[in-house]
Amino acid sequence: MMRKLIVVVGLLFCVMLWVSSCSTGRVEVGELSGEELLRGQDALAVEDEEAIVVGFCQVGSESDWRLANTASFRNTFTEENGYYLIFEDAQNKQENQIKAIRNFILQEVDYIILDPIVETGWDGVLEEAKEAGIPVIVSDRQVQVADTSLYTCWVGSDFLEEGRRAGEWLANYLEEQGRSGEEIQIVTLQGTLDSSAQLGRTEGFGQVLSEHDNWNMLERQTGDFTQAKGQEVMEEFLGKYEDIDVVVCENDNMAFGAVEAIQAAGRTCGQDGDIIVISFDATSAAFQAMLDGEINAAFECNPLLGPLVSDIIQRLERGEEVEKVQYVEETYFDTTMDLEEMLKNRTY
Ligand code: AHR
Repeated sequence: MMRKLIVVVGLLFCVMLWVSSCSTGRVEVGELSGEELLRGQDALAVEDEEAIVVGFCQVGSESDWRLANTASFRNTFTEENGYYLIFEDAQNKQENQIKAIRNFILQEVDYIILDPIVETGWDGVLEEAKEAGIPVIVSDRQVQVADTSLYTCWVGSDFLEEGRRAGEWLANYLEEQGRSGEEIQIVTLQGTLDSSAQLGRTEGFGQVLSEHDNWNMLERQTGDFTQAKGQEVMEEFLGKYEDIDVVVCENDNMAFGAVEAIQAAGRTCGQDGDIIVISFDATSAAFQAMLDGEINAAFECNPLLGPLVSDIIQRLERGEEVEKVQYVEETYFDTTMDLEEMLKNRTY
């Protein structure tokens, strides 16, 4: 382990020299920031031979959910908990994730944690990790690989179920409103295309949509899970379609962007408005938006995956078997609930 720490620190130093010699160095290595390099110096001082070295390849920082997910890993994979964490922010680019994994392999980390931006394109680099004997734990989004032994296990949300749950909620809501026989015009702000969260939510909601002949999906377009892009796409939808009844936003931040666009267009939304807003994630900010009457319902996606991944690593360290697929429990929230009380206990 000591050898590994020396290799890690040595490589970080080389990477630092290399980064400083290239104008686009930050992108080349993902976000191997000054903070990480300082962590390397901390590790030298601490010289914890027992630390488990973990390389975590994060998607980016596109949403409130993502920030909560990063915090969950950073707060779990601490020196006090016996870890040495190398954190890479891929800035929503798969090529950065592939480079980061190759760096982790060079650094001889003990474990790689991958939150893949998209599902495909991982076979080659995961083969390299397997050849190096480094277990890869996939978290949040999934990978589609020909050989599933290329990763140890996956832990995250059932995105398909989240999408179905949202569709069923809409059917019940319309029925309660006495609108189940009406033509319902729907638009969708999709997440990053080909990410598991987008694929599952689009497919799950789509399954319920296909059960309702009077629901019309006017258009689906990606807003890339960001508030700015969500707002931009919603502005475009509002310009094209006069009679939108429902906007399905595949994450909270795009919902916040959609609300901005709706209000700027002089339209209303949420509980007493004329456009129903459905969101996914259910972060505290979405609770506030529901309390403010802007969003109708939020379908939970649990970002607190750090402790679950740590538990998997501890079990692997003890030589125990781990389940290949682990779903986290999730629910939904809407404006009929005591959101004020629930918000008090919301940790993200
Ligand atoms: O993969 C999880 C999704 O990614 C979350 O719903 C979204 O907010 C994030 O960007």
